[in-house]
Amino acid sequence: MCGIVGYIGEKNAVPILLEGLSKLEYRGYDSAGISFLDESTGSGQLKVIKREGRLSVLESAIPEGTSARLGIGHTRWATHGVPSFVNAHPHFDCTHEIVLVHNGIIENYRELKEKLLAGGHVFTSETDTEVIAHLIEEYYEEDIEFAVKAALNEVKGAYAIAALSLRERDRIIAARMGSPLIIGLGEGENFLASDIPAVLKYTRRIIFLDEREVAVITKDEVHISTFRNTRVEREPVTITWDETMAAKDGYEHFMLKEILEQPRALQQTISQYVCPDGKFSFEHMDLGEDTARELNRVFIIACGTSLHAGMVGKYWIEQFCGIPVEVDYASEFRYRSPLISERDLAVVISQSGETADTLAALRLSAERTKHTLGIVNVLGSTITREARHTIYTHAGPEIGVASTKAFTTQLAALLILSLHLGKLRGSIGRHELTLHQKQLSDLPQLLETALSMQERIEETAKSLAGYSDFLFLGRNMNFPIALEGALKLKEISYLHAEAYPAGEMKHGPIALIDERMPTIAVATGSHVQEKMFSNIQEIKARRGLVAGIINTGDSKAREIMDFCLEVPETQEYLMPLLNIIPMQLLAYYIARDRGCDIDKPRNLAKSVTVE
Ligand code: AGP
Repeated sequence: MCGIVGYIGEKNAVPILLEGLSKLEYRGYDSAGISFLDESTGSGQLKVIKREGRLSVLESAIPEGTSARLGIGHTRWATHGVPSFVNAHPHFDCTHEIVLVHNGIIENYRELKEKLLAGGHVFTSETDTEVIAHLIEEYYEEDIEFAVKAALNEVKGAYAIAALSLRERDRIIAARMGSPLIIGLGEGENFLASDIPAVLKYTRRIIFLDEREVAVITKDEVHISTFRNTRVEREPVTITWDETMAAKDGYEHFMLKEILEQPRALQQTISQYVCPDGKFSFEHMDLGEDTARELNRVFIIACGTSLHAGMVGKYWIEQFCGIPVEVDYASEFRYRSPLISERDLAVVISQSGETADTLAALRLSAERTKHTLGIVNVLGSTITREARHTIYTHAGPEIGVASTKAFTTQLAALLILSLHLGKLRGSIGRHELTLHQKQLSDLPQLLETALSMQERIEETAKSLAGYSDFLFLGRNMNFPIALEGALKLKEISYLHAEAYPAGEMKHGPIALIDERMPTIAVATGSHVQEKMFSNIQEIKARRGLVAGIINTGDSKAREIMDFCLEVPETQEYLMPLLNIIPMQLLAYYIARDRGCDIDKPRNLAKSVTVE
């Protein structure tokens, strides 16, 4: 939530900042602003240009010829204070010598603000952020780094900040506590951002700033130290993503591009962990045989789409490893007293690796068990650094706010983890394992076939886009797929969608059914397919319209449905990976028909780094 960028070097900072912000707009788009040492007017002043609304509004407000060698920028997802010009970042102190951008929430901002107001500071916004600028002003004599550290020692909450000082014109000061920040290293120039795609055009050499660290970034150097002034030496990581992976590539939306990328992404995940000789290879996970055998329980903790992947993972781990699995919303897990102990494995799943609740759940788990594992997409993100083991999903950058390829690759990672654990525990034999691995390797091609139904799904979407309430049903491991389908539709089309295990219908939700509420039902081949058919008949008997996700060539299923969304057939345990494809496409096309802003749905941000 909120994106930060910074640049210092010989190039014109202004277009670099704007371009960086365009790559971070997925983190929030309530307002945007930049601050820079103005060279164009010869004033040499710290200038701020900011606007309410999308980045494009800011872009058109920047006078031609504006140039600077140093600057910071921000794209906002509002927490404290409505989206408006005054609340847009960057924020000044009273003297206009210090300017600051911030991502996160300052929890004690009220008391700090009262104190600062009493001391004569004048505030211009309703934001929590502005207190940091004034606090830095309080401590600032001649060393901005000192002042930033002193100020942050008083601040409680989660934040990543970047600040400039008019008096120290050769540096950007950045700090993090709870919100991500990366530094991109160039030749005679350096970059700062909340996320890697913002700097990919210029560099792939990245330093990840850690909790309670401050970086002083000049054009030639980066000095990192802790809030307590201990010097930190950190080697940059060269990341494998490139700029084109984070570009729209001619597609109308990132979401569609990312849906269609899934076979390749899945292939990438599988090939990272399943070797041609049938062995598993885990670079960042070395859960030994003894640990695996002694495991008592697995806790899977995540939010949103990642949670739905975890819910499918439960079925696989219980089936292949014989270990009970609990799945929990991270936001709930962290505020109860989970009975997790030293013989339990805590698996946290997160595309971004930065989700505040998931991170807190990981930290809580780590207090009770050393067996913590992150299933994460973003390289070097906080969860990967704090979890004892990491399985990267290797989906490549996911920009669309609605998660798609992150989901299928999380599923693949969970499946591989289940098979690996099963092997270590001796609950899966060698022959069975080889068979599963072969079936797994066929998946990318099957996904390709499922995606080839794109046009038919587009047609179905046209018939359904006029309805305002939807029910999603599934059973067994396809119940989480129904949940994920409903989430996709809600978040990008703003339509009401509810998901239930089909067997629950009779316990209440069936009362909703009439000709105005269509049902999307997962009815592909499985041991519960007949039960599913019965549930669908019950809906049809009440004049409900049903769009069924069915296997190609399943004539019985065809007869029952009003609309058919077909996927190829494979083993039952693999079907969730295919069944989600029509759900994603259906949500996408319905949202497009309704003219929604698919990649930037209202009120949402991709990376939820606040509670
Ligand atoms: C789903 O489309 C959303 N983007 C959201 O539910 C997301 O999955 C959730 O916020 C968790 O994010 P994470 O995977 O980065 O932790």
